[in-house]
Amino acid sequence: AEDGYDLWLRYQPLESAAKARVAPAVRYFVASTDRPIIAAAADELKRGLAGMIGAAPSQREKIDQAGGILISTDEVAFEVAGRPSGLGDEGYAIRTRNVSGKPTIFIVAHSDVGVLYGVFRFLRLLQTGQSIDNLDIIDAPKLKVRVLNHWDNLDRHVERGYAGLSIWDWQKLPLHKDPRYVDYARANASIGINGTVLTNVNANADILRPDYLQKVKALAEVFRPYGIKVYLTARFSAPIELGGLKTADPLDPAVQAWWKAKIDEIYTVIPDFGGLLVKANSEGQPGPADYKRTHAEGANMMADALAPHHGILMWRAFVYAAENAEDRHKQAYTEFQPLDGEFRDNVLVQVKNGAIDFQPREPFHPLFGAMPRTPLMMEFQITKEYLGFATHLAYLGTMWEEALQSDTFRPARGSTVAKVIETPIDAGAATGMAGVANIGSDRNWSGSQFDQANWYAFGRFAWDPDAKAGPIARDWARMTWGNDPAVVEPVVGMMMGSREAVVDYMTPLGLGHLMATGHHYGPGPWVSDLARPEWNPVYYHKADAAGIGFDRTARGSDALGQYAPEVVEAWGNPETIPEKLLLWFHHVPWDYRTKSGRILWDELVTRYDAGVGAVGKMQADWDGLRGKVDTARWAEVRDFLAIQHQEATWWRDASIAYFQSISKRPLPAGHKPPA
Ligand code: GCU
Repeated sequence: AEDGYDLWLRYQPLESAAKARVAPAVRYFVASTDRPIIAAAADELKRGLAGMIGAAPSQREKIDQAGGILISTDEVAFEVAGRPSGLGDEGYAIRTRNVSGKPTIFIVAHSDVGVLYGVFRFLRLLQTGQSIDNLDIIDAPKLKVRVLNHWDNLDRHVERGYAGLSIWDWQKLPLHKDPRYVDYARANASIGINGTVLTNVNANADILRPDYLQKVKALAEVFRPYGIKVYLTARFSAPIELGGLKTADPLDPAVQAWWKAKIDEIYTVIPDFGGLLVKANSEGQPGPADYKRTHAEGANMMADALAPHHGILMWRAFVYAAENAEDRHKQAYTEFQPLDGEFRDNVLVQVKNGAIDFQPREPFHPLFGAMPRTPLMMEFQITKEYLGFATHLAYLGTMWEEALQSDTFRPARGSTVAKVIETPIDAGAATGMAGVANIGSDRNWSGSQFDQANWYAFGRFAWDPDAKAGPIARDWARMTWGNDPAVVEPVVGMMMGSREAVVDYMTPLGLGHLMATGHHYGPGPWVSDLARPEWNPVYYHKADAAGIGFDRTARGSDALGQYAPEVVEAWGNPETIPEKLLLWFHHVPWDYRTKSGRILWDELVTRYDAGVGAVGKMQADWDGLRGKVDTARWAEVRDFLAIQHQEATWWRDASIAYFQSISKRPLPAGHKPPA
C-alpha cells in the first residue's frame, strides 16, 4: 500500500533477476509442528514470499526435493543443521544444508518464537537484496525484556502521542478485535519486541478492574502467537481507588493482601501476563514516599506478589520532586543509588537515557553503572515529544547509539551503557529495554513515514544494544522505500544527519529543555514564570551578561560528581568535555574560544544556522527522489519537510533573538538575519 500502513513489511516484488535467482530456493516449506507461533511464522513466510516472488511456497510433510525451507525446533533438525550454538531461548540459526543432496534452508531455534524471529530475519534478507546462498547466520537477543511502553489512556488519548488516537479500542473490546492488532503484533515480532505495556505510566487504576482485564485478555490472545506478552501500568494507590482501603502503604498487610489478590486474579485471566510498570512519586503520581517508604519497599511489595507467577515489576527512576531544590539532574541518582541491592530479583529499575527528560541531546544517565546490584533497564522515547513531534524528520537511531556507547567507566573503562544493561547482575537476572511508543490510529501508525524508522530502530537496539544506527537505517530504508541505490543512499543520508540537525536548531552545544511550556512544541527559552523553577527553560540555560550554560561541576550543582572519576575528569574541564555537551555542564563566557576558533556566541549562531541549513539540504535531497518513490508517501514527506524547515527557522530566529537580548553581541558575519 502507498499509505505506509504496511510499515517495513511491504514485501514488494523483487526485480526480475533477483526473483529468478531466489525462486528455486524457496519453493516449499516444512514446519515441524502447527503450534500457534510456528503457524504464525509459516503464514508470514507465505505472505512475504507471495509478495516478493509472486508465489507462496507450498507446505510439504518432509524435505524430499530441492528448494525447501525447514522451520523447526526439533532435535533432528538441529543435528542436520550442524548443532548451532549460542541461540539461547529466543535466538535462531539460518543455515543452508544438503538433505539427500538437496540444498535446504534450515531456520531452527530452541523455541517457537526463535523460529518466528528467524523467519522474519530470512524475509529481511530478501527484502534488503541480500544473497540467500550458503546461509550461515546465528543471532540471539542480548536483552530479555524488549517492550514498548504505550502512554495510552483508557479514553484513547495518547499522552505525547502524535499519531492519532490509541489503537486500543477499549469500548469495542473484548468482542471486537480490530485486525490491526495482528499487524501490530507482526510488526513488533519482526524486530524482536516481546512485550507491550498497554497503558500510560500516569496510570488509571481502572485498567485493573475485572471488566478491563477481559479486554486485556483479548489483546493477549491476539499477541500470543507472535511471542508478545502484555503488561499493564499499576497506579500505586489502586488499593484505595479500587479496593476501598484507607491506605496504599506498602508495609500494610491489607495493602499487601490486596495486591496479591489482584495479581493472582490477573494471572487467572491471563496466565502468561508479563508484569507491571509503575511510575511512583513522580510528577504528582502516588507512591511509597506518601507513607515515608522507599522506592524499594514499594517495588518489593508488588514484586513479591508477581514472583510466584514469574511476573516482573518495572519501576521507573524518573523522579523529581516539587519540594526538592536540588538540581533536577541529580534527583534520580540521589533517591535510587543508595537503594542498590535492596530490590527483589524480579524488579527492573527503568532509567531514561538521560537525567532530565528525553531531550534532543543529553549526557547518559549517571545511574547507569552506579547500581551494580540492581537490574537497570533502558527507557528510550520513540515518540518525539521534544524533537518536533511527528512532523520533524529526526531518526533517533544515532541518538540511541550515542547513549548506549557512552562509557560509564563503571566498574572500568569500556563499561558502556550498552554493556551495563546487557550484563545480568547475576545468572538468570532480568535485562531489558523499553521504548515509549509512537504508535496510534493514523493509517501510517507513527504519524509520519519516517517516524516508522524509530519504532523499527528501537526494536533493533532492544535486540542488540551494541547495534549501529547506520546499518539499521539502511535496512529500514531498503524495506520501506526500496532497494534502488539512488533511493537508499539519499534516504539513509537524510536519516543519519537528521537528529544532529534538530539538536542544532533547537538546543545546540549542550543546551536542553528550552521547549515551549506544556506541549513542548516550538521554542520557549525565555519562559521564567512557571510555578516550579525546574519547569522553566531559564533554569536550564542560565544565560546572563557573562555567558551561558549550567555549571554542574563541583563549583556548581556538582551533578557531574555523580559520574565515575574518569568522566568527571574529562567533562569537568570545558577544554576536554566534548563540545556537544559543553553548556550542559559549564557556564561559559560569551567570548569563550570554541574548537572552531569562533567565540561561543558566534558558534551558537552558527549552529542554529547549520540546523536550518541541514533541513534545507534534506528538502533538496527529497526533491531529488520525486518519481523514484510512490507519489503519496513522497508528497507527505515533502510537506512535512516544509513544515520542519519553517519551524527550524522559527526555532533559530526566536532563540537567537532571545539570547542576543542577553549577550548583547552582534550577529557574526555570514549569518543572515530573518527576512
Ligand atoms: C515527560 C512527559 C510526561 C510524562 C513523563 C514521564 O515529562 O512530558 O508526559 O508523563 O515524561 O516519563 O513520566
